[in-house]
Amino acid sequence: APLAGVIGMPITHSRSPRLHGYWLDRYGLAGHYVPIPVMPEHLAEVLRNMPRMGFVGANVTIPHKEAVLTLADTVTDRAALIGAANTLIFRPDGKIHADNTDGYGFIANLRQNAPDWQPDRGPAAVIGAGGAARAVVASLLDSGVRELRITNRTRLRAEQIKAEFGARLVVYDWAQVGNMLDGAATVVNATSLGMQGKQPLRVPMDALSPDALVTDLVYTPLMTPFLTEAQARGCRIVDGLGMLLHQAAPGFERWFGHRPEVDDDTRRIALE
Ligand code: ATR
Repeated sequence: APLAGVIGMPITHSRSPRLHGYWLDRYGLAGHYVPIPVMPEHLAEVLRNMPRMGFVGANVTIPHKEAVLTLADTVTDRAALIGAANTLIFRPDGKIHADNTDGYGFIANLRQNAPDWQPDRGPAAVIGAGGAARAVVASLLDSGVRELRITNRTRLRAEQIKAEFGARLVVYDWAQVGNMLDGAATVVNATSLGMQGKQPLRVPMDALSPDALVTDLVYTPLMTPFLTEAQARGCRIVDGLGMLLHQAAPGFERWFGHRPEVDDDTRRIALE
């Protein structure tokens, strides 16, 4: 039976083994998906050995998402642009192929939960400029967003994203985040603020249109203070759990041969 897994450190909190295990059961597929704790200094050796152990691929998470790019034999354009990979395929000839499906997962979540969302209806506003934000920016630009506003506590990281992703980006100062929402059609929290145990993301929302679609990459809790306030202002909201589920689907299909569905049962299992 084909083996796959998720490589990270720490890895005990990953939802991926539960999610892939559920899909394997659901579709009656032979296969196993395991959590694999790996220290950074061992990453290269582990990756070299996994194909020999029967692994057909792996997901990659913190802190290895950037480092795997230098260890892979082939890297998709989008993974190279984002600067990180989350999905590896070990080919029969032993070569490692690296892709990034985070942006796909982000867009698929919006399309599933807000079917009338139109990326070109108005500016997108992205709060945050870390690794997750880079995938969001790439996928929004790919989807046809014409103006993409971005802000980050550390302004330089937002400037770097603009330098790499180009002319459609407009950098706002962190103190101007409220103004950034003025006229925005799509608003994304791509910071870790609002996560259980962290401070909430506090953004003045007076300028936010009730026509905006607001989403959060944080999914613990599902309803972040940011989403709660946006909903109270009449905005359509989409929580971040679906991005996690959808980013997993392409890897599962490549490794185990069946495109898995992302539905309410899948959500429930991933939260257990
Ligand atoms: P990830 O890969 O999950 O995006 P990351 O690269 O560490 O993780 O990025 C975390 C994001 O949350 C960044 O945008 C970070 O802002 P900085 O670049 O200024 O660090 C943001 N973030 C985390 N804690 C924050 C805080 N207390 N206030 C504002 N932004 C914060």
